[in-house]
Amino acid sequence: MKGIVLAGGLGTRLYPLTKITNKHLLPVYDLPMIYYPIMTLREAGIDEILIVTGGNSAGEFLRLMGDGREFGLKGLGYTYQEREGGIADALYHAKNFVGDDSFCVILGDNILNGSIKEGVSNFKDGAMIFLKEVENPGEYGVVVMEGKRVKGIVEKPKVPPSNYAVIGVYVYTSEVFDIIPKLTPSARGELEITDVNNEYIKQGRLTYEIFKGFWGDAGASVDALLEVNNYVARRKKEDQNLWRIQ
Ligand code: G1P
Repeated sequence: MKGIVLAGGLGTRLYPLTKITNKHLLPVYDLPMIYYPIMTLREAGIDEILIVTGGNSAGEFLRLMGDGREFGLKGLGYTYQEREGGIADALYHAKNFVGDDSFCVILGDNILNGSIKEGVSNFKDGAMIFLKEVENPGEYGVVVMEGKRVKGIVEKPKVPPSNYAVIGVYVYTSEVFDIIPKLTPSARGELEITDVNNEYIKQGRLTYEIFKGFWGDAGASVDALLEVNNYVARRKKEDQNLWRIQ
C-alpha cells in the first residue's frame, strides 16, 4: 500500500501565520507539522509516500525532508497543486504515483496519537474512513448513522446529525480516480472529499473504523493549533518514545 500526504492550500484559517509560509511547515511542538502524518503512515507500514503540496513555500518541503531517508522511507516524492481546487482535486494529482495500487491518504494537518495500522490492514475494497467522537462535530465532515451503517456524510453541518467526525485519513484503490473527475465543485468552489465518500456510500462500498487515539486537526483554527501543540508537548514530556522519527 502506498501513502499520500496532502499539504497544499492557503491555510487562511491560520492567517497571518500562513501569509508567507505553508501551514504544514508550522511547528507542532518540536517538529514541523507535516512530520506527524508522515510518521503515522510509516508506523502503519507504508514506506512509499507522495506529498501533494501547493500555495506558499512549496520548495521548502524538499529542503526539509529530502528523499525521506530520515523517516526510513523507501521513497518520498513531491508534486504541486496549481490552484486551490480542494482535497479531492489535490488527491487527483497522485493518480500516476498510485498506478494500480491501493493507498492511504492523510491530511497534512491531522495529528494522531495512536495507530491506524490495524484499520488499514482491514481494508479490502471500495473506500475506508476513520471516525472519532468529538464535542464540536460542526467543524468537520460528520456522519449520519443508521444503526451501525454510515448513511451519509455532511460537510460542516450547522446542525450535526451525530457526534462522529470524519478524520482526515482515508483508504482507497486507484478506482477513486474514476470518481473524482465526475464531481462538481461545492459552494466553496472545491472538489470535496466528502462527495467522493458519499459516492462510495451510494454504491454500498464504504467501510469505517473508529479511531481510538487522540486526533487533532491542527489547521482548523489558531486555537486548534495551540491545543494540538499543548497536547503534543505534554505527551512527549511524559513519554519520549512518542512521535520518534525512527
Ligand atoms: C476536511 C474535510 C472534512 C474532515 C476534515 C478533517 O476539512 O473536508 O470532512 O472532517 O478535513 O480534518 P477541512 O479541515 O479541510 O476544511
